[in-house]
Amino acid sequence: MVVVVVDVVVVVVVVVDVVDVVVGMAVVVDDAGATTASGAADATSPSPRNPQDVASAATARTAMASLGGRECLGTPEIVLPGPLPPRAAGIGSLGCMSAGRFDDHPFIRACRCQPHDRVPVWFMRQAGRSLPEYRAIRGEGTILDAIADPDLSTEITLQPVRRYGVDAAILYSDIVVPAHAVGFGLTVTPGVGPEVEHPFRSAADLDRLRPLDPEADTPYVLETVRQLVAELDVPLIGFAGAPFTVASYLIEGRPSRDYANTKSLMFNDEALWHSLMERLADMAITSLRSQIDNGASAIQLFDSWAGALSPSQYERYVLPHSSRVLAGVADTGVPRIHFGVTTGELLELIRDAGADVVGVDWRVPLDRARARVGDDVALQGNLDPTMVLAGVDAAVEGARDVLARNAGHPGHVFNLGHGVMPAVDPDVLSAVVEVVHREGTVNP
Ligand code: CP3
Repeated sequence: MVVVVVDVVVVVVVVVDVVDVVVGMAVVVDDAGATTASGAADATSPSPRNPQDVASAATARTAMASLGGRECLGTPEIVLPGPLPPRAAGIGSLGCMSAGRFDDHPFIRACRCQPHDRVPVWFMRQAGRSLPEYRAIRGEGTILDAIADPDLSTEITLQPVRRYGVDAAILYSDIVVPAHAVGFGLTVTPGVGPEVEHPFRSAADLDRLRPLDPEADTPYVLETVRQLVAELDVPLIGFAGAPFTVASYLIEGRPSRDYANTKSLMFNDEALWHSLMERLADMAITSLRSQIDNGASAIQLFDSWAGALSPSQYERYVLPHSSRVLAGVADTGVPRIHFGVTTGELLELIRDAGADVVGVDWRVPLDRARARVGDDVALQGNLDPTMVLAGVDAAVEGARDVLARNAGHPGHVFNLGHGVMPAVDPDVLSAVVEVVHREGTVNP
């Protein structure tokens, strides 16, 4: 009994530390704006395995996560600082329940660098495109129409889980759904991607990005999440587009190779840039929290196109905002994955933004990625998607190489280095899941 009380007291102290870290970071982000988010770096760098760092933020995150897995023992009320949104009523208990349900699942344990019995695997873009059963039910219209139908979206999300036996489901939705839902005026053209009729150009366009009210603006997304949580026996990953990647669509008006308009705005009108990023960060936080409230067990922040930036550009124009998004869901205790493509030079910064799991594309060998980000953060990745396209032999050889480079580190979520390509043979992905589950090892 005494031990339990001491335990609770320790947890409370640690959680307060997290709040300090969040407050510290928010202040830095606010005041420094374009310059630094060193508070965010502080939040991730200390080692949770080092006893001296017992009050470190990394340890606090781990402690909060495990708190979620217990019986909601007196979860302390946390008052978030100004720049972050207020907690939704009841989030303490809901966050606790949703973080706890899959605490012993290999996917969640791997995200937390905790030992588990098999290497977990899922695939970005596993829902849709490459699956014949998806094409059979997808229907006409844009993907935005399909997302607005919870029964259809639930079924599409479940299809790859059934077929492949992957260890996590990814919500069938899209990163542009919140901007679409507040009426920015965009569509998603099949074979092309998001397109905007009147791209973001000036301060007046900020008015087209009012705050997101998930219950009113995207009730269909929340209904899909609830239906999935009721049906799934693996964790559901919720997600949002990171401010930079969403901004790139709003500014370019369509997918881009060089992000010339986006970067021009960034360099020419830094104040407007940060105003836009702040709105998109608020939208991402609100969307992610609503998905977690309704039962998502982990979240992924997709900054797919951040690799278009140099490290100093990323640090000045993007990191403070992505960092605020990740800090804005920290108190829920759910693992946070942070992913981008061509981010070899940005990996440390992507970690510093506050991720529990750093997504790595196929260009950086996993052992090199590990050397760059350190042992205390989990990695996700990173089989080259074209090796899957090439067939079973190439895919299995590539998967074995990824496993070997991870060398049994418990913090590894197997995935592709980017999304499943539409022309892929689903049987090849089944073979990858099988080899990862059969041959992957996890050090105790
Ligand atoms: O399977 C999953 O990963 C879950 C669903 C999901 C989609 N989009 C469905 C989708 C997720 C997580 C996304 C995120 C997303 N959307 C990202 C980040 C991930 C990444 O791939 O880097 C980005 C950059 C977008 C923007 C976007 N939406 C693009 C580039 C495209 C592709 C256009 C095409 O047809 O090739 C889309 C459309 C889209 N989103 C499709 C799907 C299944 C295909 C269109 C369709 O089936 O109608």
